[in-house]
Amino acid sequence: MTDREGIRANAKYLREVRPIDPDEIYEYVDGSPHPAVVRQVLREEAVDLGLVERDDGTFVPAPECVVEPGWAPTAFPERYAHAFEEFLVEREGIDWHRGESGDRLRETIRRLKERYYRRQSVAYDDRVALGYGLYHLPDYYATVGYVLDTLAERGLVKTPLRVLDVGAGTGGPALGLHDFFPREALVDYHAVEPSAAADVLERLLGETGRNFHPTIHRTTIEALDLPGLVDDPGSGVSGGGFDLVVFSNVLSELDDPVAAVERSLDVLAPDGAVVALEPADLNTATALRTVEREVVSRTGATVYAPTLRLWPDAEPSDRGWSFDVRADLAVPSFQSRLDEAGDDPGAFTNPTVQFAYAVFRPDGTRRLAVRADPARHAKLADADRHVTRRVDLLAVKLSHDLTDDDDTNPVFKIGDGSESTGVFAVLTRETSLNEVLAGAPYGSVLSFEQALVLWNDDEGAYNLVVDDTTVVDFVG
Ligand SMILES: C[S@@+](CC[C@H](N)C(=O)[O-])C[C@H]1O[C@@H](n2cnc3c(N)ncnc32)[C@H](O)[C@@H]1O
Repeated sequence: MTDREGIRANAKYLREVRPIDPDEIYEYVDGSPHPAVVRQVLREEAVDLGLVERDDGTFVPAPECVVEPGWAPTAFPERYAHAFEEFLVEREGIDWHRGESGDRLRETIRRLKERYYRRQSVAYDDRVALGYGLYHLPDYYATVGYVLDTLAERGLVKTPLRVLDVGAGTGGPALGLHDFFPREALVDYHAVEPSAAADVLERLLGETGRNFHPTIHRTTIEALDLPGLVDDPGSGVSGGGFDLVVFSNVLSELDDPVAAVERSLDVLAPDGAVVALEPADLNTATALRTVEREVVSRTGATVYAPTLRLWPDAEPSDRGWSFDVRADLAVPSFQSRLDEAGDDPGAFTNPTVQFAYAVFRPDGTRRLAVRADPARHAKLADADRHVTRRVDLLAVKLSHDLTDDDDTNPVFKIGDGSESTGVFAVLTRETSLNEVLAGAPYGSVLSFEQALVLWNDDEGAYNLVVDDTTVVDFVG
């Protein structure tokens, strides 16, 4: 029997003094276990002891890092793509993309897309998990980092860190999280995944660095004893709860998504964040806003981003279809192989990165602390009163240009957190004084001066006309 307690005691003492070297401390432990055994025990105990392993094989106290923003992946990393393809080969054979196996995988992806589109439930058996990974590992790898960047911009992503990834699936978000944090950061990562997707996840987590400590809970979020996990001194999560909870493309699959977010807020550190992501399509993106609004009303949590409430005590009740779009990813070889072996070019490659998201914080922090000023700003809730008038207002840019042809005036969804009907800024004449509207990133707060409010009967929405009289400034 290894003297685990002896190793822990030595580590606890030495961590205050000098780097802990398994080649040194094995001699101080009862029975002198092999240094490799000591190393393994230190790895297993690293979260609890707050240690990270360095390249030279010694262990030191985990550094406290503030993670910098700047996530901009151009491709799903080759290392992960390779591991996933190896898994495909093991399960489906070397010619996994051809013949019957290729046909079955393509058919699985077709059916998955169809079921998501129709909002039907999906059962993730072995093959569905492979199909899901084939199509979605890259885009959901990228997405999670973009949302974390909104927190990192304000210095709010710190390590050591404990993460709960609900419905982790085949691991796109898990790998994105891993790559978002520095290699030397201590990350205690917990996945909740009840389906066969957990097998793919487990394999891909094998590619992560030694200071990223994964635990997979093969159960549902409803069945997982979250308070027990947080209270259990051996779980690594005790003493403060999770710093980050991620619901990536899972809320729409839960019977009671609001209750799940509520429960996750209960096990969140006071300065933690819950990140919810959904696909950009109308159904899932607007369902996310419904969840967001109910969570706010039931828990009092603050929406950190992107749909800032700029008026105290006001809440939006419009349809709320809002999503971000980021740079396409290079198509990984596993997608191009499957695509090229079929007869529907492009149906099995998925380079686009677009997503709806909401970040909640229990501590009241918002991405930008700014509020509208009743003495200066019109409230979008009162848009009706301002029709045909020019107004000044403060609003968040909540879409990229929604038009798809160059001859039409660019249109952007905006919101100030009070609107009950959609409001769209229409750029009818771009000048140096309003060009910020087109150029500002999704989620920016903008101030508008002298913008003309009109009612658009065709769309059942208000238009805010931005012309050569209008000034638009970037607030943050
Ligand atoms: C659309 S996939 C998303 C996977 C991953 N989060 C991503 O973004 O790629 C939804 C995942 O949620 C899991 N899931 C469904 N119901 C769940 C529940 N009640 N608790 C935990 N996970 C669940 C499914 O097994 C599936 O892997």
